[in-house]
Amino acid sequence: MSENKYTITAALPYANGPLHLGHVAGVYLPADIFVRFLRMNKEEVLFVCGSDEHGAAITLRAKKEGTTPKAIVDMYHEINSKAFADFDISFDIYSRTSNQVHHDTAQEYFKKLNDNGSFIQKTTEQYYDEEYKQFLADRYITGTCPNCDSENAYGDQCEKCGSALSPTDLINPISTLSGKVPTLKETSHWFLPLDQHEDWLRTWIKEGSLDGVQQHNPKDWRNQVNGQCMSWIDGGLHPRAMTRDLDWGVKVPVEGADGKVLYVWLDAPIGYISATKEWASANNKDWKDYWTGDRKLVHFIGKDNIVFHAIIFPVLLKEHGGLVLPDNVPAYEFLNLEGDKFSTSRNWAVWLHEFINENPDKVDEMKYVLTSIAPESKDSEFTWKEFQARINNELADILGNFVNRAVVLTNKYYEGKVPALGELTDIDKDVLNQIGEFPDRIAGLIKKYKLREAQAEAMNLARLGNKYLAETEPWKLAKTDMSRVNTIMNIALQITANLTIVFSPFLPKKAQKIAEFLNFDQKSWGFAGKTDLLASNHQLSQASILISKVDDAFVEAQVEKLKESSAMNDNNFPPQKDEVAFDDFMKMDIRVGEILAAEKVPKADKLLKLTVNTGLDTRTVVSGIAEHYNPEDIIGTKVSVLMNLAPRKIRGVESQGMILMAENEEGKLSFVSPEDGFEAGGEVR
Ligand code: 2FM
Ligand code: ZN
Repeated sequence: MSENKYTITAALPYANGPLHLGHVAGVYLPADIFVRFLRMNKEEVLFVCGSDEHGAAITLRAKKEGTTPKAIVDMYHEINSKAFADFDISFDIYSRTSNQVHHDTAQEYFKKLNDNGSFIQKTTEQYYDEEYKQFLADRYITGTCPNCDSENAYGDQCEKCGSALSPTDLINPISTLSGKVPTLKETSHWFLPLDQHEDWLRTWIKEGSLDGVQQHNPKDWRNQVNGQCMSWIDGGLHPRAMTRDLDWGVKVPVEGADGKVLYVWLDAPIGYISATKEWASANNKDWKDYWTGDRKLVHFIGKDNIVFHAIIFPVLLKEHGGLVLPDNVPAYEFLNLEGDKFSTSRNWAVWLHEFINENPDKVDEMKYVLTSIAPESKDSEFTWKEFQARINNELADILGNFVNRAVVLTNKYYEGKVPALGELTDIDKDVLNQIGEFPDRIAGLIKKYKLREAQAEAMNLARLGNKYLAETEPWKLAKTDMSRVNTIMNIALQITANLTIVFSPFLPKKAQKIAEFLNFDQKSWGFAGKTDLLASNHQLSQASILISKVDDAFVEAQVEKLKESSAMNDNNFPPQKDEVAFDDFMKMDIRVGEILAAEKVPKADKLLKLTVNTGLDTRTVVSGIAEHYNPEDIIGTKVSVLMNLAPRKIRGVESQGMILMAENEEGKLSFVSPEDGFEAGGEVR
C-alpha cells in the first residue's frame, strides 16, 4: 500500500515552437525525476502533460509564418511530443488542448462556474485595432509594465516581473498587429472577481489552511512562490477577464457569446484535467479519483507561470468545488545559455530535439548536467564547457570509474561471482553504515524538491566507493590476502547496487545499464538503502563503457554552432532584433545630410572623419567606412544621419551622430541615400 497519492502536472508547453534546454531544466526534467522517485517509492502517481494549443502565442506565430494555427500546433505537437519521448520524460499521458475531450471539459467547467455565479459579466471598453478590426488582449498588445517599467509587457502579463496585467494597465499600449496606438471600444466579457477571493487565498498561501483545515505545510513551498503570491495579494487583486474576442480557442458555451473563446489561461490548466480524463478512459479508471479526496496535486512550472497556478487556477478549482487544490507549486527560475538569455527570435538556444538527434547517446549525460545546474532558487547558466567538465570529471571519473573497477575486479578475481563478506574492520563498518543512510537522505531532499542537492548526494555515494577502494587497495591485497579482498569487493558491489537505486530517478538509462552489469533488478526495490542487495555467489555480467568522455572538439563545435545559428537566418542575414515600441523608434531623429569634407583618422584604418551639413548645422561625424570609400570620392554625397545619438569620442575625435549604412552578405557597406533632389535637413522616417 502506498502512503500518498499524487497527481503531478508539468506546465503544458505552447505548441508554437520547439523546446529548448531552458524548458527542460526548469520544468520537465525535475517533474520527471520527482515522478520516477515516487514510482520507485511505490507511491501512487499520475503524471500528466500535453501541448497548450490556444492563445495568442499560437495565432501570432501562425500569422508570422503565413499559415494557420492548426498547422502550427500540429507541427509542434509532433516535434515536442517526440522530443519528450526521446528524452525519456515518463509522462503517463502527453495530450493536447485541441482534443475534443478538452473542448468538452473546458466548456463544462466554464458552464458550471457560470451557473454558480462565479463570474461577473460586464461590458467594458477594451483596446481595439481599427486597421485589423480586432480587440487586443494578451500578446496582441504590448506596453510598459506599470509595476516594473519593463517596456515589453504583454496585455495579460509582464514576463519580467511576473505580474498579471490587463491591457488597460499598460502604459503606452501598442497593437502588435499594426504597431499603432489602439482605440477603445465596448465589448462584453465574463470576469473572475479575484478581489473577492483575497481573504481565503491569503490564509491558504500563508498558513496552508482552507476553511480551517490544514491543506499543506506552507514551509514546503518555495520562498519565491510564497513571496510573489503574497505581494500580489497584498497589492490587491482585480477582476480578470476569462473570455476573449477571438476565433481560435474553446468557444464560450453560453448564449450571446458568438465570436468569443475562453481565455487561454482558463482553458490551459483545465487541460490537466482533460488529459487525466483521456488517460483514465484509456485505462479504465475514473478521472475524479485523481482530482479529489486525499490526492496531492503538484504543479511543476517556470516562474512566469506562478500567478496562474498559485492564484487563478486555485480560485477556479475552489469555485468548481469538490476538487483538490495544489499541494505544492514548485516553480523554477530561468536557465541562461553561454552568458545570455535563451531567445527563440535570436535563435540563441539549444533545441532539445536537435540535441537528441545529434547526440542520441548523451541523453542521461544531459540530464545529469541540467540537474546539477537546475535553477531551483535563482537563475543559472548552461555552458558547453561545464557540460564537458561535469561529464568528464564527475560522471566518468567518479561514477563510471568506480562502477567499472567494482565489476571488472569481481570478474577478474571471482569469475563474476559476488564474494562473501568476511570479518569486518572499522572502515568496513563505517562504510556499511553510510551506505544505508544515503537513500533516505536523498529521498528526504527529493521530497523537498531539492533535486540538485539530491543528485549531488547520489554522486557522493560513488565518491565514497572510490575512496573506499583507494584506501583498501584490493588490487594489492589480491596477492597476499584474498579473504580480505572478498569482504572489500562484497562491500564495493553493495555500493554499486545502491547506486543503481539512488541514480534511477536522475539517470534512468545509466542506472539500468549498471544494473545490467550487476545482473540486478533495481526496479523491484523501493527507494531504500540496503547493504545486502547482492547475495554472495550472485553472478554478475560483464561491464562495458558507462560514460564516454567529451572532448574539446565537441565543445568547440557546439559553441560554434550556437554562434553561427544565432548570427544568421536562412538568407545569411542576422535575425530580427527584439521588438521596440513605436514611440521608441520615433525618438530617433534621422535626417538627410550632405558630406562636405572627409579625411582619414590618423592611426585608425577603418575610420573617416566627416564634416556633414545636416540642414540644422555643420557637424563632425566619425564613421567606420574608410575601407569602403576614398575620402575624395564622397564629397557632396547625401547620406542618412542619426542626429540625436549622444556624442562620443572616437580616437580622440568627438562624433556628433552616426551615418547609417546598409551591409550586404559579404560585409560590404553602402550609404543609405535619398533620391536626387532631396536636400540636407529632410527627415528620414
Ligand atoms: O507558459 C507556457 O508555456 C504556458 N503554455 C503554460 C501553460 S501551463 C498550464 F496551465 F497549462
Ligand atoms: Zn513588470
